[in-house]
Amino acid sequence: MKVTVCIGSSCHLKGSRQVVETLRRLIEENHLENKVEISGTFCLGQCQKGVCVTIGDTVYSVTPETTEDFFQTQILSKV
Ligand code: FES
Repeated sequence: MKVTVCIGSSCHLKGSRQVVETLRRLIEENHLENKVEISGTFCLGQCQKGVCVTIGDTVYSVTPETTEDFFQTQILSKV
């Protein structure tokens, strides 16, 4: 599974770095390093939704506060 986090300036201001760090930690804790790949991307043109996180063709709106929830529902339950 490929998870892409927007690190454009608007999403950065909304905490994309923290989202990435939290996702990395959760992936490690759940031993999913071989199954989930995290990468960054530049602005996706949907800044109002930031922090934008994409899985496949779907763009999700995530915040540092909702990252854990997002991980449980969109990543952990699907790998
Ligand atoms: S900066 Fe993330 S969508 Fe624009």
